[in-house]
Amino acid sequence: MPEIWTRNDRSQYERGLTTPDKETTIATTEGSRVDNKLSRGDLELFDRQPQTADVTEELLRSLGASEKSVSARYFYDQRGSELFEAITQLPEYYLTRTEMALFDTLADELRAAIGADCALVEYGSGSSKKIRQLLETVAPLAYVPVDISLSHMQHNARELHRDYPNLHIYPTCADITRRFELPEPVAQLNKVGFFPGSSIGNFSPDQAVEFLSNVARTLGTGSRLIVGVDRKKDSAILEAAYNDSAGVTAEFNLNMMKHLGELLGVDLAPEKFVHRADYDAETGCIRMFLEAVEAHEVEANGARIRFSEGERVHTESSYKYAPEEFAEIARRGGFRQVSHWSDPNDWFSVFLLEVVSD
Ligand code: TRP
Repeated sequence: MPEIWTRNDRSQYERGLTTPDKETTIATTEGSRVDNKLSRGDLELFDRQPQTADVTEELLRSLGASEKSVSARYFYDQRGSELFEAITQLPEYYLTRTEMALFDTLADELRAAIGADCALVEYGSGSSKKIRQLLETVAPLAYVPVDISLSHMQHNARELHRDYPNLHIYPTCADITRRFELPEPVAQLNKVGFFPGSSIGNFSPDQAVEFLSNVARTLGTGSRLIVGVDRKKDSAILEAAYNDSAGVTAEFNLNMMKHLGELLGVDLAPEKFVHRADYDAETGCIRMFLEAVEAHEVEANGARIRFSEGERVHTESSYKYAPEEFAEIARRGGFRQVSHWSDPNDWFSVFLLEVVSD
């Protein structure tokens, strides 16, 4: 198993413990045509050193506010990631399976629309199942997973490198909500962005526009983006997807309170909270909360955190879009719509967008 070596830490490489594979450089000729006589793909990590907040300070501020709201990034400790994986397989959680079935149906169209000589850039590389499906479909030259969690990516990248030995893999550690530089080796390749799972819905509409503007600038004019977007639909179907009968989403949400307590070094009494998810048809948004069932207070780092009975801590939003609403978001973000597809129920959308300005 090869080591992953990073641009920012060359010491290992200089000491000769690892050497970049000489035959695996990407040679470009005539500008955009890529000469691919590679026997083996690169595996190189690019650490763009995302800013890490002072977690204690951030959490004390979030939990001390009159409207309590905690960043959704705190869902994903080890247990949280496992629970999320379980959510994607729940009968009520139609999103993942509907999107994957769509990608399956669209294989030929996506291949034709994208072309193989590209670098596929995945924003917030989560489930490696989806990327494998797309790697098979598109067969890109390079794959650039971008995620804030380095360890997560390293693990997935090693497995992909083993299973797709010719693919260049450049895991990039960065905060996808900020601008960052793509790995230098993909500079000359056509870029295709990939943002599945309706993760775009976890931004507010204005944040989604800002995110897309950053993506447009990073990928460059003429580049394409494949994005999965959950559609507006009957509120009973939506609420069931975020409030499953087996209680997995509830456990996922409550696990965050446990995780926050660990980060703060106190017991936030997760057993005193219940999971709530409701759909606001006005804003087209599912909002998830942890609701205190009784008044209690906790001391953390010299500060007092008070929860009154029935008080809610907001943990996640998931916006749903009609196709024409999302097309407008994309337009504001600097993209034009190339194609839009939906499943037979019209529950989920896949958009193929193109950067018109950067
Ligand atoms: N983007 C997906 C969605 O909104 C996944 C997701 C994010 C999610 N946070 C969640 C799913 C919390 C369930 C609960 O559905």
